[in-house]
This record gives sequence, structure tokens and C-alpha cells, in this order.
Amino acid sequence: MLQGPDRRNFLVLAIQGLGAVIAGALGLPALSYLFAPPKAKNDVAWIEVADLAKLPAGEPAEIIFSHKRVDGWKVVTEKTSAWVVKTGETEAFALAPACTHLGCAYHWKHDSKEFTCPCHASSFSIDGKVQAGPAPRPLDRYESRVVNGKVQVGRVVASDGAGAGGGKA
Ligand code: FES
Repeated sequence: MLQGPDRRNFLVLAIQGLGAVIAGALGLPALSYLFAPPKAKNDVAWIEVADLAKLPAGEPAEIIFSHKRVDGWKVVTEKTSAWVVKTGETEAFALAPACTHLGCAYHWKHDSKEFTCPCHASSFSIDGKVQAGPAPRPLDRYESRVVNGKVQVGRVVASDGAGAGGGKA
């Protein structure tokens, strides 16, 4: 049995050891949170939104679809939409549904062949270029591609203001 200074040294070492264990248990997760690389956010989650063969040529189609949004540890399923324009037998592009002025939902006018925004009357051509303000830039587009005849969309890419142009998926 330990007596006197030996016992005291043993207790001090035991307390210090216990402190080290507690510090490790609390500190390792904190250090891994601070220094571990974040999960890659550059991976595009492609979502199939339409059968290209069923889309009308030269006329946008509003497609409503669900996507998963990761918010911290929470994964939320949300509904959103895209205006998909078929530009060929294997090509299409998809416009994001919000007006680039203040974010209202715009719609397609069949008679004038343009997108119009009900909030402040901006209008856009079928490829998203601004035809009348106050929208400051073309409509944003989804990253898009056609795989096995299905239109897939990824992230929304903000337009740069230089014109939407193009039309290839
Ligand atoms: S939000 Fe569309 S014109 Fe203002």
C-alpha cells in the first residue's frame, strides 16, 4: 500500500492522466472540425427532369422537380422548377425560375414568344437575354446535359450579364 509522498504522486498522476483523457475526448472532435477539409461541395448532383423527346421544340416547358438541399446536418427535400428549352434532338438548356431583378417567378408568353415577369415587367428572350428592364442581367441557367435522351440539371450558374447565348446542353 502506498503511503505519504508516493500516494500523493500517484494521485497527482492519476488526476493528470484523467485530465488528459478528458481533454483528448473533447479536443479531438474540435480539432477535426477546425482542420479537417470540408466535404466537397463541387460535386454536381444531376437530377433527371425531362424526357427530351417529349419536349416541344422551340417552346420552353416549365418542369417542376424535387431536389435535396443539404443544410448542415439536415437534408431538406424541396420542390423547384426549371424552364427547359429543347434546341435539338440531343440538346437542351434549362433556365432557373427566378427573375434576375428581384427574384419573382416569370412565365412564358406564347403570343409574344418571350418570358415576362409579372412583378416589374422585365422580359427575356427564349434564351434568357434581357429584352426589357429593369432586370440587370440575363436569366440564370442550370448546368444541364442530356444523357440517354433524358435532360438532367445540376447547379444554377449565375449569368454574367454578358448575354445568355448558346443553347447547347
Ligand atoms: S422581379 Fe422581375 S422585373 Fe422585378
